[in-house]
Amino acid sequence: MTSDDRVVDLPDTIDPQNIPNHVAIIMDGNGRWATERGLPRREGHRQGVETVRETVRNCNALRIKVLTLFAFSTENWQRPDWEVSYLMSLPEKYFESELPELIQKNVQVRMIGDRKKLPRRVLKVIDEGAAATKSNSGMILNFALNYGSRAEILLAVNHLVSEAAAGKAMRRVTEKKLSSYLYTAALPDPDLLIRTSGEQRISNFLLWQLAYSELYFTEVYWPDFDKTELLRAVTVYQRRKRRFGGV
Ligand code: FPP
Repeated sequence: MTSDDRVVDLPDTIDPQNIPNHVAIIMDGNGRWATERGLPRREGHRQGVETVRETVRNCNALRIKVLTLFAFSTENWQRPDWEVSYLMSLPEKYFESELPELIQKNVQVRMIGDRKKLPRRVLKVIDEGAAATKSNSGMILNFALNYGSRAEILLAVNHLVSEAAAGKAMRRVTEKKLSSYLYTAALPDPDLLIRTSGEQRISNFLLWQLAYSELYFTEVYWPDFDKTELLRAVTVYQRRKRRFGGV
């Protein structure tokens, strides 16, 4: 199967000509989903991985070009050890079962975030996934792991400062130049940001890149974010008038 064979039953509410190119998601509410069911928080994260599986399939079928998932923030290290360690086991769990399908569906795996603090086994599965899908030309599946936007911007600024200090001629820094030093350098900015669980915050996610994105907040907890919810978000996106500062 190639990316061109992707088919999806689109409801009438969806315009196939106006699918967002890049969808970024803050997957929130796993803990509350579990607690409300009298389950340990871990169960919410486990179910959250199921939602990741389905969302990747659905976004790919919708011909979304880039899907960025906020899987672990630089602030998430503050969680209890058991939870950090469980969250760090999820990429392995996911790729173990999904990599063959990602390869077959022409999906390309990438990662954004600070690799330094991430356990070796996490980097290993991500790197293996990226290597195995490097030549794929379909949807880009971009995991944000140990990601923090302010740190990302600072990193870019420090690159620029180093260049200037090394005497490389630079009369002024342009948006394009700064963007080229972000983790997302090769990617278009998100068209649509989705955050689940009723919180209406950006939480240090893609601060630069979200400048003109449409924001969609839903009360639904991430484990319950199914195809209907995704299509609802895309429908709302398609009703928005994007003006990019114009009229
Ligand atoms: C926020 O919910 C969620 C996270 C910090 C983790 C998100 C990770 C996944 C959904 C799975 C990632 C999958 C892969 C394959 C890497 P929360 O725990 O803060 O929920 P709460 O606000 O209700 O407590």
